[in-house]
Amino acid sequence: MSPRVVLVGPPGAGKTTVAAELGRRLGVAVRDTDADVEAREAMTVQDVFVTHGEARFRELERDAVREALSTHDGVLALGGGAVTTDAVRRSLDGHRVVFLDVSLTESAARVGLGTSRPLLLGNVRGTLKKLMDDRRPLYTQVATLTVVTDGLSPEQVADHILTEL
Ligand code: S3P
Repeated sequence: MSPRVVLVGPPGAGKTTVAAELGRRLGVAVRDTDADVEAREAMTVQDVFVTHGEARFRELERDAVREALSTHDGVLALGGGAVTTDAVRRSLDGHRVVFLDVSLTESAARVGLGTSRPLLLGNVRGTLKKLMDDRRPLYTQVATLTVVTDGLSPEQVADHILTEL
């Protein structure tokens, strides 16, 4: 069993919304590794970071990705930082992976200032810029398709992905 499509990309790229749209159109279930970690730990991602630290979160995330890749056959959205883990990038080999690309301006606007994302507390735009610069090569490395989402609705992004599947 293997997901029909895996979505990667930075915070604010629209992974969760596009995953829901794709799931609806394809008539398949949607899974999200952040939600899987939250269910397993019975706490929010933010609390996992505060209580156990980022390194532990990345381990839990890696395990959630592995498990979902082998048991889920719908749409799978990964947390924005999942690709920073080598084992996650390796595990994506052979899967259909869509990189939802987004400009810094649009990402910052979508994430907003009142973010609950632990890595973005404080200087949202500056931190996002660094994350996106550091991770762009990693998203590109794992992706079999890249969609630039700026100015597109989730429906339009889903249209684009479905024509390529
Ligand atoms: C993270 C992104 C978040 C979540 C965690 C870490 C990151 O997911 O996994 O806060 O490192 O970029 P989203 O991309 O869904 O916001």
